[in-house]
Amino acid sequence: MKKLFVSILTMLMLVSWSDGDNVTENNNHTSISSEWKEINPKEIDVNAVKMFADDWMILSAGKESDMNMMTIAWGGLGELWSKPVITVYVSTSRYTYKYMEENEYFTVTSFPKEYNDKLIYLGTVSGRNEDKVKGSGLTTEFTELGNPIYKEANLAIECKKIYSHQFDKDKIPAGQRQWYDNSKTGLHVMYVGEIVHVWKK
Ligand SMILES: Cc1cc2nc3c(=O)[nH]c(=O)nc-3n(C[C@H](O)[C@H](O)[C@H](O)COP(=O)(O)O)c2cc1C
Repeated sequence: MKKLFVSILTMLMLVSWSDGDNVTENNNHTSISSEWKEINPKEIDVNAVKMFADDWMILSAGKESDMNMMTIAWGGLGELWSKPVITVYVSTSRYTYKYMEENEYFTVTSFPKEYNDKLIYLGTVSGRNEDKVKGSGLTTEFTELGNPIYKEANLAIECKKIYSHQFDKDKIPAGQRQWYDNSKTGLHVMYVGEIVHVWKK
């Protein structure tokens, strides 16, 4: 009887220790700077239309050993399948497209106005031709999941890809279809990412 009691007690202690470990693992993002404060997706208090269309954001995918990033103005924040999500649109002609396809996660970061020149650089130069991390002068930090965010950013959203689909050319309005033909930009792929972490400064 005493033996059984000791075994049950040991099992309970093991379960409670392992729960404790998980809590630490989920909340202790030691790899990013302590200036970041983790918030709930519902606490993102920005105008999403303005954040994308006027201020732009940086979309990044990959890991420390191999990553790429680019400026985006097309996107949205909301909910899908009862999950908080961010949606971004990446043309197949972007080098970042390869990283979006090959990686399970991506991040979206926004920056104070004084970094506008960096966003213009990241939106006009391709990672195919140069090292954009170096060229931008931004400081990368890597989340516990190994995804890139930037020390200079003021909002960082880490997402897990849960859906992607390329635009169907026949369903694009005539004017925009013409734009694709003229610019020879590859059709965009819509990526929906479940928001798994949000940090703000
Ligand atoms: C303000 C701005 C917004 C942009 N928004 C998008 C976008 O939403 N989707 C996209 O595919 N390209 C967008 N681009 C274009 C890419 O950022 C650009 O082609 C970039 O150089 C691609 O880099 P990469 O080849 O290293 O991926 C935008 C560019 C700028 C300047």
